[in-house]
Amino acid sequence: MSTGTPQLSKRHFDAIVIGGGGAGLRAAVELSTNGKRTAVISKLFPTRSHTVAAQGGISAALGNVTPDHWHWHMYDTVKGSDYLGDQDAIEYLCREANVAVYELEHMGMPFSRLDDGRIYQRPFGGMSQNYGGAQASRTCAAADRTGHAMLHTLYQQSIKAGVHFFDEYFAVDFIRDNEGEISGVVAIEIESGAEFIFTASAIVLATGGGGRIYRHTTNAFSNTGDGLGMVLRAGLPLQDMEFWQFHPTGVAGAGVLITEGSRGEGGYLLNGDGERFMERYAPNAKDLAGRDVVARAMALEILQGRGCGPNKDYVELKLDHLGAEIIDARLPSIREISITFAGTDPVESPIPVVPTVHYMMGGIPTNRFGQVITRNKDGAESIVQRLYAVGECASVSVHGSNRLGSNSLLDLVVFGRAAGKHILQEFEHLAPGEVAADGADFALSRIHRWDKKGSERPDSVRESMRDIVQNHFGVFRTEDNMQDGLEKFAACIATIDSTSIQDTSKVYNTARIEALELENLLLTAAATVHSAAARTESRGAHARDDYPERDDANWIRHTLYFSEENRLDYRPVQMQPLTVESFPPKKRTY
Ligand code: FUM
Repeated sequence: MSTGTPQLSKRHFDAIVIGGGGAGLRAAVELSTNGKRTAVISKLFPTRSHTVAAQGGISAALGNVTPDHWHWHMYDTVKGSDYLGDQDAIEYLCREANVAVYELEHMGMPFSRLDDGRIYQRPFGGMSQNYGGAQASRTCAAADRTGHAMLHTLYQQSIKAGVHFFDEYFAVDFIRDNEGEISGVVAIEIESGAEFIFTASAIVLATGGGGRIYRHTTNAFSNTGDGLGMVLRAGLPLQDMEFWQFHPTGVAGAGVLITEGSRGEGGYLLNGDGERFMERYAPNAKDLAGRDVVARAMALEILQGRGCGPNKDYVELKLDHLGAEIIDARLPSIREISITFAGTDPVESPIPVVPTVHYMMGGIPTNRFGQVITRNKDGAESIVQRLYAVGECASVSVHGSNRLGSNSLLDLVVFGRAAGKHILQEFEHLAPGEVAADGADFALSRIHRWDKKGSERPDSVRESMRDIVQNHFGVFRTEDNMQDGLEKFAACIATIDSTSIQDTSKVYNTARIEALELENLLLTAAATVHSAAARTESRGAHARDDYPERDDANWIRHTLYFSEENRLDYRPVQMQPLTVESFPPKKRTY
């Protein structure tokens, strides 16, 4: 029986974008500037989206500081992905990078400058000249606040372009039309609790990552995998969710990010013996090897008793030799963060750091136009009508099993723009979304199922999930530890039916939102634990002690996870680029 869908307030747009971070805003600017009525539905005020926390920069082979070429960038990205990235999408990313950065510059983004006025670029990990040669300076920076500068620039452009903003609205689930196709979403206005139906010809998911499934993360509290939960509940898959990036330098005990740009500017890591240990693990790139390589080296130093401090449970990032002038000009926020969260001024003494969960390489599978892809039980792939995904919630896949630092901000703008352009091109073929009589019932029943009584509280379920994922699916993984984690996770997820937010006669809107976020976190975690336990090799960020080698014969393939029965499937990696020769897999050294 219908729960009364027709009585809800309805809004119709040409396109709706869910999420107000860099990718969502870049898509919205493209659509609105070209005359499409576009709404951004964001659970945060847009300039509080997690893009604002990105520090070190955005990559593009501008060649302002060292010689560079987009094809070298492509080589580094394919190698960095440990050969799990789709090479057509990577070619597109690297070819489009310069245009994307110059567009931002022309929009008014306040990049740091070289003395001659061109955009400043710094070295970042895994970036080389001439296919693995000398270190490249490819990362365009606005000091150490590049995401902040980008997000504010895109927000201003969105306002100028006339984008309709629904700030602090939480998208709950998709609605369907009479053909059963996705045609919009139900969203809650967080302040009032009012429910709305939004329909559109195109829906762009740009909801960011889900790093809050882990206990120790650089991610904001808002990164709860909301788009991922919506997709799984709609019967669609997630891709490559076993691959989570541990950023080498989170402040020990606090999780706050210390940008890789600190090492790009000349900082380096020391163990408890005062040794610059990365020289042993990556003799050429040293502290600027791929993030997976540096994070594992740090974890090993700590595990083998060479950590720093009374408990030998962190390593140190030394910056004082750079001097106050460089630190204040290039890394001003790092100095502030270190003083605030580590109680140490990096101009005088090193910062205690540990590998900390930072980025989700997997996500909603898409092609390079941002169109969402699914696969039926017979292995036939199809495009999901009207639905696009961009940014961290998407798996295009340009990052494969390990992302290079500063390729994320690039991914946001290149694929946000690409999705916008594709919708404009296809618009005439996209029917305006309508709502079937019962098309919103599923979303509405999910909102109200939390009104029941129950003994468990969402926060206790969430905290137990975070410990399980952190302890059993961390930097190093083994069969026994993951199986133990799977059992604990099954017990944790089973408590959801007895979980309630109704401890008095009142139900608060924020409590309801946290409960809905918890369901998204649990689905994101389920995709992670099941995908990870099945991959019997080590590749990129998925490092198994019991399968220490990469297994190209069996595992150059993307994992697909469907929540129904925790089903796994696999799809081929696109090894063929668009116009150039493929980069075949080879041993990955730095
Ligand atoms: O280290 C950083 O500044 C982070 C950059 C990134 O994840 O791309």
